[in-house]
Amino acid sequence: MTMQTLARDGAGISAGRPARTYLMCPPTHFGVHYAINAWMDPATRVDRVRAMAEWERLRATYVSLGHNVFVLDPVEGLPDMVFAANGATVVGGMVLGARFRHPERAREADAHRAWFEDHGYRRIMPAAHINEGEGDYAFAYRAIVAGHGFRTDPAAHNELHAAFGLPVISVKLVDPRFYHLDTALFVVDSFTAAYYPGAFDEDGLIKLKTLFPDLIEATEQDALAFGLNAVSDGRHVVIPHDARALSAKLTERGYEVLPIEMTELRKAGGGPKCCTLELRA
Ligand code: ARG
Repeated sequence: MTMQTLARDGAGISAGRPARTYLMCPPTHFGVHYAINAWMDPATRVDRVRAMAEWERLRATYVSLGHNVFVLDPVEGLPDMVFAANGATVVGGMVLGARFRHPERAREADAHRAWFEDHGYRRIMPAAHINEGEGDYAFAYRAIVAGHGFRTDPAAHNELHAAFGLPVISVKLVDPRFYHLDTALFVVDSFTAAYYPGAFDEDGLIKLKTLFPDLIEATEQDALAFGLNAVSDGRHVVIPHDARALSAKLTERGYEVLPIEMTELRKAGGGPKCCTLELRA
């Protein structure tokens, strides 16, 4: 591992822990103009200035932790493009493109593909089936947990396995409030995940219990506060400030919790993780 891949000393990451690389898209054209999930109501007013300030704070938080953040140019007419996590899945420097369920978001996949082409990614795989990127795909080091039920087509899970060669653990989402996997679960480190049990069926719960030796249970209140839409670098966890019980459990286990406020993006059913696509080298 070269020095460049290591986080700066003193930047908050212990020596030797690799920095993460994220892709984010500013909420320049953000708004709630249609309703494609249970959180969205086009009658809701959005404060775009505040949305931008919250987004900027998230970006600055990653940078302060020593992580690298690339910025994807926002496209007019794509109000959900700020949710960069949905635009692709990147593992081992390889990119699996997204294919959105709703036509309102379809063009976001093209913008992401163009970004990866322009940034030297050589293996960019188009998707034949609907998948909403990291919205439904959670990289868990030696496997990928893949959600379905609301957005991603279960047929896409084979494509995911073919793309990266990792085992894919398919889990079904059953609560429309938690329509993407990343609203119901996040991977904290290679042994640990946090989840809201009510979002999964029996079969999914069994799979999660066998995959993660340490499974942190979030309350319904944590989940409604988008507490599972958190971003962990294995040591720090960036999480909505009002996911209090979950934050306390993470702190108890020794993770450093960085609370963040995202009032505006939540109106579209999103939180910090939705704004963050991890680019895994
Ligand atoms: N309004 C967006 C949608 O319904 C929110 C996407 C949130 N992204 C996420 N990764 N969960 O598609």
